[in-house]
Amino acid sequence: MTFDVRDLEADKALDMARLYGQCFDNVWEASFFESKLTDSCFAKGIFVKEELVGFILVQNIEDEAEILTFCVRENHRKQGIGESLLLDVLKQSKILSCFLEVRCNNKPAIALYERLGFKKKGVRKGYYQSQRQGSQNSTPDAIIYTYSKN
Ligand SMILES: CC(C)(COP(=O)(O)OP(=O)(O)OC[C@H]1O[C@@H](n2cnc3c(N)ncnc32)[C@H](O)[C@@H]1OP(=O)(O)O)[C@@H](O)C(=O)NCCC(=O)NCCS
Repeated sequence: MTFDVRDLEADKALDMARLYGQCFDNVWEASFFESKLTDSCFAKGIFVKEELVGFILVQNIEDEAEILTFCVRENHRKQGIGESLLLDVLKQSKILSCFLEVRCNNKPAIALYERLGFKKKGVRKGYYQSQRQGSQNSTPDAIIYTYSKN
């Protein structure tokens, strides 16, 4: 299935924050997305019946991209929406390399990154503990993945 990937501007910050909150166990406020989108970041999204069902937020400095976050609404997963969003970013001619951090136990995301050619570059021990101070949850490591066109 092919999906129409659209540019997201700051007016979609609230939709992004809501979807983020449904997909992750922490909160990123709409104001965070708004400020990122007026900074060195861009976002792409996919809509179904005018509802945002998936988006990717990317920081782009020169020819390097960092995926800051990436999510698809649970009932729209496993249809290729995540892949369409990632490929849309990777195909941009201005982007020559890309990196991201992912929890080591996030199997769906890791499978997708590896299938699209991302390579494991390193591990940050207890990374997600430091992101959530005081959390009693398990504290998985972050795996750093990179993708290069060279
Ligand atoms: C990671 C995430 C964005 C993937 O989104 P998605 O839309 O499900 O991704 P895709 O559909 O493109 O691919 C996922 C799987 O579905 C499969 N798939 C794709 N289209 C399919 C279809 N039409 N029918 C059945 N399966 C399909 C893919 O082959 C892929 O399988 P694999 O994991 O075995 O490789 C989503 O799981 C998510 O939002 N997770 C929570 C947030 C998160 O963890 N984000 C990443 C942070 S680093």
